[in-house]
Amino acid sequence: MRTMIALASMVLFGCVGLAQANDVEEGAKLYTEKLCLTCHGEHGNKPIMPIYPKLGGQNADYAVAQMKDIKTGARNNGLSATMKAIVAATTDEELTKIAKYLEVQVEAPAADTAAAAATDAAATDATATDAAATATQ
Ligand code: HEC
Repeated sequence: MRTMIALASMVLFGCVGLAQANDVEEGAKLYTEKLCLTCHGEHGNKPIMPIYPKLGGQNADYAVAQMKDIKTGARNNGLSATMKAIVAATTDEELTKIAKYLEVQVEAPAADTAAAAATDAAATDATATDAAATATQ
């Protein structure tokens, strides 16, 4: 009996995992088909305008809530109008799939940012050493 339950839950969880993977895959397709790509850029991480939001890595529930608010007009600032027609032409189910795809598009830090952080760390070390030297004098 225990084996049966274990097997049943394995199958069940396997299916849930698969369904989510499918959502991400479909979301990726929809992201291009619905033209989200044209404004938010590749993987949601390269918006065409600096003031357009980056979407990669954003929590899916949050993103869906924002898109629904833009759709209904609850969120309405100077930029929302740009998005409105697009979300109006996309079902909530499709928006959820796209959001699931975007959630896992985490941007790797740019090489120069990592290098700058390393330089900063070195500079902080130097300052600490200076401070220690001053303290001993
Ligand atoms: C014509 C350009 C354009 C297109 C196409 C577009 N967006 Fe946007 N999107 C924007 C702008 C501009 C904002 C900021 C709106 C605001 O501040 O209310 C935004 C906001 C968002 C937000 C809210 C981000 C946040 O941090 O709150 C999400 C999520 C989003 N877009 C997803 C999408 C998806 C998914 C699609 C495709 C179905 C899409 N967008 C298509 C321009 C666009």
